[in-house]
Amino acid sequence: MAATRNVMRAVRVFEFGGPEVLKLQSDVLIPVPKENQVLIQVHACGVNPVETYIRSGNYARKPALPYTPGSDVAGVIECVGEHVTAFKKGDRVFTTGTISGGYADYAVAAANRVFPLSDKLDFRQGAAIGIPYFTAYRALFQKGRAKAGESVLVHGASGGVGIATCQIARACGLKVLGTAGTEEGMNIVLRNGAHQAFNHREANYIDKVKEHTGMEGVDIIIEMLSNVNLATDLQLLSYGGRVMVVGSRGPIEINPRDTMSKESSIIGVSLFLETEEERHECATALLDGIEAGWLKPIVGSEYPLEKVVKAHEDIIHSSGARGKMVLVP
Ligand SMILES: NC(=O)c1ccc[n+]([C@@H]2O[C@H](COP(=O)([O-])OP(=O)(O)OC[C@H]3O[C@@H](n4cnc5c(N)ncnc54)[C@H](OP(=O)(O)O)[C@@H]3O)[C@@H](O)[C@H]2O)c1
Repeated sequence: MAATRNVMRAVRVFEFGGPEVLKLQSDVLIPVPKENQVLIQVHACGVNPVETYIRSGNYARKPALPYTPGSDVAGVIECVGEHVTAFKKGDRVFTTGTISGGYADYAVAAANRVFPLSDKLDFRQGAAIGIPYFTAYRALFQKGRAKAGESVLVHGASGGVGIATCQIARACGLKVLGTAGTEEGMNIVLRNGAHQAFNHREANYIDKVKEHTGMEGVDIIIEMLSNVNLATDLQLLSYGGRVMVVGSRGPIEINPRDTMSKESSIIGVSLFLETEEERHECATALLDGIEAGWLKPIVGSEYPLEKVVKAHEDIIHSSGARGKMVLVP
């Protein structure tokens, strides 16, 4: 940690654009928590694809410039603002959102976005929980109404959200199929809850999924790349099945008739629209999962803050995900 006096290192974005607009500065003032906020010494921060969309300026939500990206930090409470009783200096925590930005040595977060980090997980794992696990839970249960005994295809299972989805779905009694783009990714998916894995870079993998599911099809598809897969997904579903649109990077043409033949649904998922009550429900389930031992984030690639530009390049042009990408200050 490079905190001297009251300054720290932080990645700052002064204009929207390519990864090169991410500037690491070493003279940024350490933020001071206001009431109901805490200051966290950051030990690791998750890198999520959405942070690249926001940085590019082509996303619906644009922060005021300049800003520091990063919502999912894990670290240690440095101090707390007025009225905060749930945390004290020295507590290990993780967040689902920050106010000052997580790509930094220190970050301020609202106390209701901060959760205790179990000793069972290290800080890098703690930084892999926020967006990925809360999205996976929302897609499966709050929006997808998944039930034990149903089958789920996690289409893009090797990344942050995918592995989270496999672990949660398996623990909750679903039959889990997952896809990855490499042999290594498929093995990680199999070790993290999937009963069966397929390679989405293989030409005939959809035939293999169909062969595996037979006439029945899958009840739920958690889709990470809808602009590529949505039309095919509709043909993989069971009667009454649903595709949960979690990720999409462009438009796609579908045949609406494919939804009529099975009365299937296409449902959008947005973690951003989660209510306070839904976040609480989700946090309770996930914290239970950590205690029970089935929630164990897999950290793939790690980058120091100095390599943040490379991290943003790599998360979009991945040669094969192996779990969650994290920045380590
Ligand atoms: N709606 C929401 O609220 C929400 C929340 C969180 C994330 N997301 C979105 O969900 C997506 C996944 O996020 P993440 O954090 O898991 O990203 P990530 O860690 O970068 O993982 C990306 C995943 O997509 C897979 N993939 C690549 N090509 C694919 C294909 N043709 N078909 C299916 N999957 C493919 C990758 O597999 P390989 O690398 O093995 O090929 C990897 O498993 C992103 O687009 C993200 O923006 C949305």
